[in-house]
Amino acid sequence: MNNAVAGFSKLSKQEKINWIAEQYFSTPNEAETLLKKYWNTDEKIQQLHDEFIENTISNFYLPLGIAPNFLINGKYKTIPMVIEESSVVAAASKAAKFWATRGGFKTTILGTEKIGQVHFIFDGELALLEAFFEKIKPALFEATESITQNMRQRGGGITDIVLKNKTSELKNYYQLHATFETKNSMGANFINSCLEQFAVTFKEKAAEYEPFQKKGTILEIIMSILSNYVPNCVVRAEVSCPVSDLAEKHIPEPLLFAQRFVQAVQIAEIEPFRAVTHNKGIMNGVDAVVLATGNDFRAIEAAVHAYAAKNGTYSSLSHAKIENGVFTFWVDLPLALGTVGGLTTLHPMVKFCLTLLENPSATELMEVIAVAGLAQNFAALRSLTTTGIQAGHMKMHLNNILNQLEATEEERQLVQKHFKKHTVSHSAVVNYITAIRN
Ligand code: MEV
Repeated sequence: MNNAVAGFSKLSKQEKINWIAEQYFSTPNEAETLLKKYWNTDEKIQQLHDEFIENTISNFYLPLGIAPNFLINGKYKTIPMVIEESSVVAAASKAAKFWATRGGFKTTILGTEKIGQVHFIFDGELALLEAFFEKIKPALFEATESITQNMRQRGGGITDIVLKNKTSELKNYYQLHATFETKNSMGANFINSCLEQFAVTFKEKAAEYEPFQKKGTILEIIMSILSNYVPNCVVRAEVSCPVSDLAEKHIPEPLLFAQRFVQAVQIAEIEPFRAVTHNKGIMNGVDAVVLATGNDFRAIEAAVHAYAAKNGTYSSLSHAKIENGVFTFWVDLPLALGTVGGLTTLHPMVKFCLTLLENPSATELMEVIAVAGLAQNFAALRSLTTTGIQAGHMKMHLNNILNQLEATEEERQLVQKHFKKHTVSHSAVVNYITAIRN
């Protein structure tokens, strides 16, 4: 079958659906019905979603769950989470409840700097380039004044531009490395507009610069783009309490628990195979809130994992210690977030989630998201170092299995009762349901 298509984007929505359904499905009507089942009945909302991207044929749902009782810097927060993994919201809520009676979560903003670069090639002497850059640097700021005006009024803007010599790594390669403060916006558009203007001005000034002309040097702009790596836009979230206060029903020996917990973190600090899974657990919490608040989860993922490898080896993002009888557990995360612009006012559910979070500033959202990551990591390590992860995980997964088996209400009740006392596994549930059905 030849599945190539010309001019797909020019087809109407219905024509696109027809093509997809007929090309790929043995029962095109069923495929079309399914796609339309997921359309919003409110035409305005549907149109909004259709226009977010190109070639939209339907919506793709993820659940929005709520993790309440997060005590953060002395104030309770209710956290919205968009995620498909069954145990994540329950784990977050449990961790929130646990720490609410032990002082809660504390956060610190370690920096809010964003970065962008103009990458260029220059084949002349470094000293000549340095002299040129110092001379025209004010012109770079001047040329971007109209772009930065609003941002400056909000207390942000371009904080610096430096020339970076990268020729030891790549022949003739230099950068204009610019730093920005973008306040409550993620700032991608703002930064990229500034950078593209820098590139134009830089090129123009270079063309007029006599010492370059005399030597016939070449200065070529390669590209201008923000960096999603933000090692100076970092938030720390932390929990801490006397070791003895960790005691509860599932933690009968708090010192042993704390020691094991610290060792589990140390393993993730030195062992990349474990670190990736450990950090994946943190991202269960982070991504869920990033998605709920309409932020760019790809940018966050890229930044966080680069940060986890900043010392040359991929390592744990979180750390733990016991000092003078006090257990402390913390995470540092680079999070470039926005609470204005982008989807924040456009997507009704994003707006809802931001209202639920009491319309946070970008730094407040950094704090909430780092807390969600730390809570998730705490819940995972607590299970892993005590009962193991599967007992809780499979209990939460039970509903998915029941849905797969199209269990009736009566069967569900029997299954829930039975598996209160028995270990959940896919085959155990299938066997049990088959037995009931027979
Ligand atoms: C599962 O989504 C996340 C965990 O694997 C994280 C971890 O191992 O720390 C439980």
